[in-house]
Amino acid sequence: MVRPTIAALLSSALLSALPQALAQNDSFVCTGVNEANNYNATIEYLGCYTDDTIRTLEGPQINIATNSPQICADMCGYRGYNLSGVEYTTQCFCGTYINSAASKASEDSCSYICPGNNSATCGDTYFMNLYQIDDPNPNPPPIVSKRSPACLTNPFCANAACETSSSQSDRIAALLSQMTVEEKAQNMVDAASGVPRLGLPSYEWWQEALHGVAASPGVTFNSPNGSNFSYATSFPTPILLGAAFDDPLIYSVASTVGKEARAFANYQQSGYDFWTPNINTFLDPRWGRGLEVPTEDSFHAQSYVANLIPGLQGGIDALESKQIIATCKHYAVYDVETNRMGQNYNPTQQDLGEYYLQPFKTCVRDVHVGSIMCSYNAVNGIPACASEYLLQDVLRGDYGFTEAYRYVTSDCDATGNIYRPHNFTDSAADAAAVSLNAGTDLDCGSTYLQLNASVANGSTTEAQIDISMTRLYNALFTVGYFDGQAEYDGLSWADVDTPAAQNLAYTAAWEGMTLLKNDGLLPLSSSASSVALIGPWANATEQMQGNYQGIAPYLISPLQAAQAQWATVTYSLGTAINTTNTTDFAAALSAAQDADVIIYAGGIDVSIESEGHDRTTIEWPGNQLDLIDQLSQLGKPLVVVQFGGGQVDDTALLANDNVSAVVWGGYPGQDGGNALVDVLVGKQSIAGRLTTTQYPASYIEEVNLFDPNLRPSNDSPGRTYGKFFRESTSLSSQYTNKWYQDQPVLPFGYGLHYTTFSYEWCTLPKDSYDIVSLVGSTSPGSYAGSPSVNDASPWVTVAVNIGNTGKVSSDYVGLVFAATDNAGPAPYPNKWLVSYARLHGLDAGASEELQLSINLGALARANADGDLVIYPGDYQLLLDYDSCLTFNFTLTGESTVLTPLARQQASYNFTVPVHPQA
Ligand SMILES: *[C@@H]1O[C@H](CO)[C@@H](O)[C@H](O)[C@H]1NC(C)=O
Ligand SMILES: *[C@@H]1O[C@H](CO)[C@@H](O)[C@H](O)[C@H]1NC(C)=O
Ligand SMILES: *[C@@H]1O[C@H](CO)[C@@H](O)[C@H](O)[C@H]1NC(C)=O
Ligand SMILES: *[C@@H]1O[C@H](CO)[C@@H](O)[C@H](O)[C@H]1NC(C)=O
Ligand SMILES: *[C@@H]1O[C@H](CO)[C@@H](O)[C@H](O)[C@H]1NC(C)=O
Ligand SMILES: *[C@@H]1O[C@H](CO)[C@@H](O)[C@H](O)[C@H]1NC(C)=O
Ligand SMILES: *[C@@H]1O[C@H](CO)[C@@H](O)[C@H](O)[C@H]1NC(C)=O
Repeated sequence: MVRPTIAALLSSALLSALPQALAQNDSFVCTGVNEANNYNATIEYLGCYTDDTIRTLEGPQINIATNSPQICADMCGYRGYNLSGVEYTTQCFCGTYINSAASKASEDSCSYICPGNNSATCGDTYFMNLYQIDDPNPNPPPIVSKRSPACLTNPFCANAACETSSSQSDRIAALLSQMTVEEKAQNMVDAASGVPRLGLPSYEWWQEALHGVAASPGVTFNSPNGSNFSYATSFPTPILLGAAFDDPLIYSVASTVGKEARAFANYQQSGYDFWTPNINTFLDPRWGRGLEVPTEDSFHAQSYVANLIPGLQGGIDALESKQIIATCKHYAVYDVETNRMGQNYNPTQQDLGEYYLQPFKTCVRDVHVGSIMCSYNAVNGIPACASEYLLQDVLRGDYGFTEAYRYVTSDCDATGNIYRPHNFTDSAADAAAVSLNAGTDLDCGSTYLQLNASVANGSTTEAQIDISMTRLYNALFTVGYFDGQAEYDGLSWADVDTPAAQNLAYTAAWEGMTLLKNDGLLPLSSSASSVALIGPWANATEQMQGNYQGIAPYLISPLQAAQAQWATVTYSLGTAINTTNTTDFAAALSAAQDADVIIYAGGIDVSIESEGHDRTTIEWPGNQLDLIDQLSQLGKPLVVVQFGGGQVDDTALLANDNVSAVVWGGYPGQDGGNALVDVLVGKQSIAGRLTTTQYPASYIEEVNLFDPNLRPSNDSPGRTYGKFFRESTSLSSQYTNKWYQDQPVLPFGYGLHYTTFSYEWCTLPKDSYDIVSLVGSTSPGSYAGSPSVNDASPWVTVAVNIGNTGKVSSDYVGLVFAATDNAGPAPYPNKWLVSYARLHGLDAGASEELQLSINLGALARANADGDLVIYPGDYQLLLDYDSCLTFNFTLTGESTVLTPLARQQASYNFTVPVHPQA
């Protein structure tokens, strides 16, 4: 995505309709009015202005494919604003004053041609053509008003598209039959223009809600803060949510986000579809967007998304009636920022089937996501948004993404990137054609505006356009865009940031926090009364929201929470995230000198890891470790809290006896300070687990950033799940790992507690299974389409009795891994995660049975074609990262394909010349 902005859109049902008499037909109920068309702005040009991170105009952003100075001024002036500005071709901004940080630039800086008026310019990247509106509407509509369904609003209500006695497909066909090819093209971009002459409103498809409704072109947060729809609950980012290993928690968080998002949509503060979740896996520790995803492990990502999508969309059966439309992104093999728009990856079919595609399969096949976003990168030479293999053979073929209302959107400008920088086609119009032909229904960007040219030159057809538009309009029907939807239209501002949502944001933050070291200092004793709180995260506020954030109702910093907890808190910055400046060390050391306990809060943040920016080192940045070392030499109790999404190499901290404890805190969201202080004092237990391997700093020199292979080779030590030095079974130590073959600093799944546990199997699988009877009707080794039984089918539920043998109540996360050293193709992974579950509040001295259900997919490994196959051989189940319990069993009989993966064709046909990448 390019350029998320805080200012945003009133995606409006009020735009651009012509006045008409109310329809007489009984099947039309035209209750909505549209006065916008009665207003035309008188404008005066003020010049080309800079519009960088500080926005020139503070009002709403309205994106429209047919943008022009007049159209923009009409929309802003109707809303009562006396300033309007056009930018980046399709963006329109409103305001009442010019920000003092903005300045006039040379006229050459504004050179993009307006799509709605080719004799006018619509700014440039970070430049705006600014206009004064002489006659703003003196009676503007209220800032917050409920959306009228399109088919209840004049004059569109009288359109055949609104004839409720017709079938939905006839209604959509009727609408398409009234649109020109050019109008269709204008509605296949995110800033869909609607059809002003028919009264069809514009619609912005680009909404974000990664961990709460987020600033994005389609979302408007009103000001002032505190007014209706001025904020939304801000949960921890997914990397911390993942670390909780608590699927019901994920469902609750997603369900809250979905409700709040729908409330925004109902009041025209957003559209109904949201480009969340990011379900790529955190494969390379350098990845700049790792904070946006829950885990490096594909099974974990599958379970996470299986709980997330039903929460967002309104249930696993929310098919034709949804709360919001979720979008699983970025499909596929997108795990690196560097050169992301032009990079090609050639993963093996084995890794595709076993790793990269797994979360998308679950998202599409099992929990029915409404939409998928294709990614910037190419796979096997073909840009993902032009890949018939990915979008047809796998997505629609294997995964059944075929219902009328399911659509594919491109990542932002990914369609344009097919031409530049991929150079896959010889023009942007050709890029639009190959993308549409491959099955990308919507373009985030403006390349699809050229589809009328592509149709004219025969590289695609109007019929192909209609297939995609039919999907898009069917999708809008699922959220009540045309007719309204009783089930969800009642959600309102009263459903945003409720006490339950606030509590959930707090719970989600502490549940994910993970204890990496503890010499017994934690939980802090109540006798500690004076605390020195030091470091670049000690007074974190927005920092706690990571990226893809919205406006939070409040942000409780660690400092605020500490001040509420302890009598004396001395705060000192100490150092910044990444600096060599040591000026502030002295003040920090002096504050620490006088305290009972030192808490250092640092690590990384989005200045180090972010969209478009991979890390170039996985060491602690700047001089933070120097400061921690100097603090440790004071010989006082010292807790280090490591924030950020990607892991940093903690070797020095783990080895330093004067560092008493290390806690990982991710990006904890709006209540991060309270969550942190409450786990430090033991008011809440700490039971999160690392969802990424903590590699030694040297790892990134051993594996190429662009190498998509997981298995170790001469060129790579392998990726994911390091071998752990305390591995207790002889089994694991003989193996390469899954798949990293050296010793990590800390392994996937690592996490300590304030108590100790005992473990005992209660329910176990049988010692031996015959594969044919397990898989039932599936025919061995065949590639015969969709079997009735697949990898998501249940196999067994094992149970473990967990006893709390320590002194304090605690949560406990049970992780079950599987391993083999003779079943299926070599090499063998050390182990792979097959189930997890979280116990809550297990009291000291108590015990409880933890149920862990395991799917048939747990028994499958991918063959060279990427099919998931159950192989005969000897297997082991292992509990937890340290294999504290094991169980051996055997599978007998013939190898059997459980879930096939479509084969790549030797070549794909394109309607234009193409140049696949090597
Ligand atoms: C606004 O402008 C449009 C196009 O120029 C014109 O058709 C319409 O009548 C105008 N409306 C008013 C209220 O002046
Ligand atoms: C695409 O073409 C441009 C312009 O010729 C060139 O600079 C760029 O390196 C090419 N990209 C690739 C991936 O070949
Ligand atoms: C902590 O951060 C807040 C918000 O940025 C700021 O207002 C406050 O002054 C900071 N506190 C200290 C002690 O620096
Ligand atoms: C170092 O940090 C101090 C305190 O924040 C600041 O005043 C000083 O300008 C910085 N020095 C440099 C060279 O940036
Ligand atoms: C830290 O700052 C240095 C010096 O400005 C810079 O070269 C380096 O890339 C930064 N490190 C990270 C991880 O951003
Ligand atoms: C379980 O399997 C492992 C690996 O095959 C083997 O080393 C171990 O001895 C087996 N344990 C039992 C109890 O059979
Ligand atoms: C490409 O076109 C040829 C000739 O029409 C056809 O036989 C082949 O199946 C097509 N390939 C694909 C992948 O569609």
